[in-house]
Amino acid sequence: MNKVDHSFTIGNVKFNNTVLTASGTYGFGLEFAKIIDVSRLGGIATKGLSLEPKKGNPGERIYETPAGMLNSIGLENPGVDSFKKDYLPEAAKLGTKIIANISGSSLEEYGLMAESLESEKDVAALEVNISCPNVKAGGMAFGTDLKMVEKVTEIVKKNTTKPVIIKLSPNVTNIVDFAQAAQYSGADAVSLINTLMGMAIDINKRKPVLGNVMGGLSGPAVKPVALRMVYQVSQKAKIPVIGMGGISNPRDAIEFLLAGANAIMLGTINFREPQMPLDIIEGIEKYCLDNGFNSVQDLVGLAWKEEKHVKTNRCT
Ligand code: SIN
Repeated sequence: MNKVDHSFTIGNVKFNNTVLTASGTYGFGLEFAKIIDVSRLGGIATKGLSLEPKKGNPGERIYETPAGMLNSIGLENPGVDSFKKDYLPEAAKLGTKIIANISGSSLEEYGLMAESLESEKDVAALEVNISCPNVKAGGMAFGTDLKMVEKVTEIVKKNTTKPVIIKLSPNVTNIVDFAQAAQYSGADAVSLINTLMGMAIDINKRKPVLGNVMGGLSGPAVKPVALRMVYQVSQKAKIPVIGMGGISNPRDAIEFLLAGANAIMLGTINFREPQMPLDIIEGIEKYCLDNGFNSVQDLVGLAWKEEKHVKTNRCT
C-alpha cells in the first residue's frame, strides 16, 4: 500500500499512477512486460495507430545524437483493426490503462479511428497525434495549424465518449495557443511535447543520414525545451497536462510535475533503461514523503504557483 496518492484523472477516468509510457517507445507494452512489472505504470500509450497498416519510411530511421535520438519511423504500425484483434486483448491483461494513440492523414480518418475504438472497453482514452513530423499528410501539418487543431479535436470528440488527449507539437511559435485551441474544442487533456524537428548529415556520403532527411529529436537534449513548454501551457490550461520530453530520472520527473504537469510520459529512456519508469515512481514517492506531500497532485505547478504567491505577497 502506497503512503502517497499517485493517482490523477482525465475526464471520468482515474489513472492509478502519474507515470506513463510514451507512444512509439513502448509498442503495446507486451515486450516490456517480460522485463518489468508494467501494472505499476499509470498507463501505456500505444504506438501511433492508423486506419490502415503502415510500413513506415524507407532507409535509416533512427540515429543517435549527443544526449538524444533522431527518428523518422513514419508511423509504422499494424493498423487499427489488427490492433483490436491481435494486440489489445493481450495488452488489456497487463493490469494498466491502455491509451490508444491515433493518427489520421485526413480529418475524416481521425473521426473513423475514434469511432472504430469507441466500443473497445479496454481502451481507457485516446491520445490524438497531430504532431508526428515524419508523415506527409496529417501529423505535424495539422498540429501546426490552429484551425486544424480545432477541427481534429472536434471530429474526434464527436466520435468518442472516451477522454481525448491532444498531443501537441513543439514545432510552433507559441504552443500555448495550440493547447488553448485544443481545450476550447473539447479536449479533455493535452500531452506535450512530441519531438523537435532535426537532422544529421553523413560527412563521408555527404548526404542526410535519415532516409526521410529530417526526423524528430527526443531524449535528454530536448528536456529544457519541453519543461519550458509545460510550464507555459499549464499556467493557462484548465484541463490536465501530461508532460514529456527527455525525462530520464526521478529528478527530471519531479521538475515536470513542479512545472505543472499532472502526469508524465517516459519515452526515449525506455530504450536505454527499461526499469526507469519504476525507479521514477519510487523517486516521486520518496520526494513526496521527504517533503510532506500526501498526494503527487499537490506538487503540480508549485514552481509557478509559489512564484505567483511570492509576487502577490510582495505587492501587498
Ligand atoms: C514516427 O512514427 O515517425 C514517430 C511518431 C511521432 O513522432 O509522432
